[in-house]
Amino acid sequence: MPLLSDTPHQPDLRNEAANVQWGGRFTAGPSVVMQEINASIGFDRKMWRQDIRGSLAHAAMLAKLGILSGEDEAAIRSGMAAIAAEIDAGRFPFEEALEDIHMNIEARLTERIGDAGRRLHTGRSRNDQVATDFRLWVRDAIDGLSAQITDVMAALAQVAARHAADPMPGFTHLQTAQPVTFGHHMLAYVEMLARDRGRLADCRRRLNECPLGSAALAGTSFPLDRDMTAAALGFDRPTANSLDAVSDRDFALEFLASAAISAMHLSRLAEEIVIWCSAPYRFIRLSDAFTTGSSIMPQKRNPDAAELVRAKTGRITGALVGLLTVMKGLPLAYAKDMQEDKEPVFDAADAWALGLAATAGMVRDMTPDTARMAEFAGSGFATATDLADWLVRVLKLPFRTAHHVTGRLVARAEALGVDLAGLSLAEMQAVEPGITAEVFGVLTVAASVASRTSYGGTAPRNVAAQATRWMEALA
Ligand code: ARG
Repeated sequence: MPLLSDTPHQPDLRNEAANVQWGGRFTAGPSVVMQEINASIGFDRKMWRQDIRGSLAHAAMLAKLGILSGEDEAAIRSGMAAIAAEIDAGRFPFEEALEDIHMNIEARLTERIGDAGRRLHTGRSRNDQVATDFRLWVRDAIDGLSAQITDVMAALAQVAARHAADPMPGFTHLQTAQPVTFGHHMLAYVEMLARDRGRLADCRRRLNECPLGSAALAGTSFPLDRDMTAAALGFDRPTANSLDAVSDRDFALEFLASAAISAMHLSRLAEEIVIWCSAPYRFIRLSDAFTTGSSIMPQKRNPDAAELVRAKTGRITGALVGLLTVMKGLPLAYAKDMQEDKEPVFDAADAWALGLAATAGMVRDMTPDTARMAEFAGSGFATATDLADWLVRVLKLPFRTAHHVTGRLVARAEALGVDLAGLSLAEMQAVEPGITAEVFGVLTVAASVASRTSYGGTAPRNVAAQATRWMEALA
């Protein structure tokens, strides 16, 4: 059977039964299921901007080196502009038979400008092309998501500044532990999100090398200027090993790992919002803008947005585990398995962006019930540690002894159905004769939080200073 490449006529790019881009070696088209499993155009069309950007940088470099004529480069440039307009307007004829975004755009380019379009792929492979496009896409996503994280941090810092001195119960094991301020609690999430942003910045730094020019796997015999394409696309430098460059998806994995950790943080805040909104707590209220009603229970005001932020963690973590599993055990260099890298990243990026937007919205929307939080801040013997610390400081008891004495006082108060401040001095002295009336001064919530002046502690002055620091840093 003669190969198509042996025949003298130039095959029409879009009407060959065999694939137009590599049809020379083939005489027949793929089976329907082959085409279906092979095609990525259904999802990788999302990278069309990056694909065109990469192609223009490649063409400009080929032209500078004289590998492509100035005329051809100009034709490519205007052809790509027309294609971009078509895609933007939703008029581009995407074809599954052309597999992916790279071949769809190239075929359309050739349809429009002829041989100049056929020269674009000189010194390039889809393997370095897709690696470049995908890095550019992830980099753009990082920039957008970092800005969104910053916005959530700013929203939290503003709430923290407003509530730097408003006490709430602090919990460990979800049991009342010690009073903290609501502002302090908000700033804890600012710290978490700052690390999320830092992880993205690290990911971006390592990602920012350009695979273009690595070609299929071995590099190319054309004397490409890889520094030029790298710079044109905003990369710090070209990748140093062609095999690694076409088979590396660490940047996508790091992105997903950052996403999974951040989603976990958002989920923890969402979980607290759900708890705080519940009727037994009523620490905060969300408006109609961030709640839904029930079709049967007229009194309900459900925190669905928070619940869905919490739930998005599942698909985001799933994306990370999914891609790790795809990449595990792949021999160098490129394998088609790697086409499965995009959907999890696209999906996780969407879910993360939506979760951040919903979180920013809820934080700005919520109304804390400061009176109710203050009321519960003192319940559950929350100032017991303050009492123990007083015994150490004033009576010079060893801490372990003070702990034991306080434990007995708590048991006594519990038996009498009062809180610690409700015990009489005589009751206290029955347990520890050295206790004086001065002790009552440390048993209030206000005194407790004000005393936590250690760096990073919950004293209102600390919290106000940290909130100001963050608001300045984020402005
Ligand atoms: N659509 C492919 C992907 O996303 C592009 C690279 C194809 N390379 C190849 N040698 N078949 O991975």
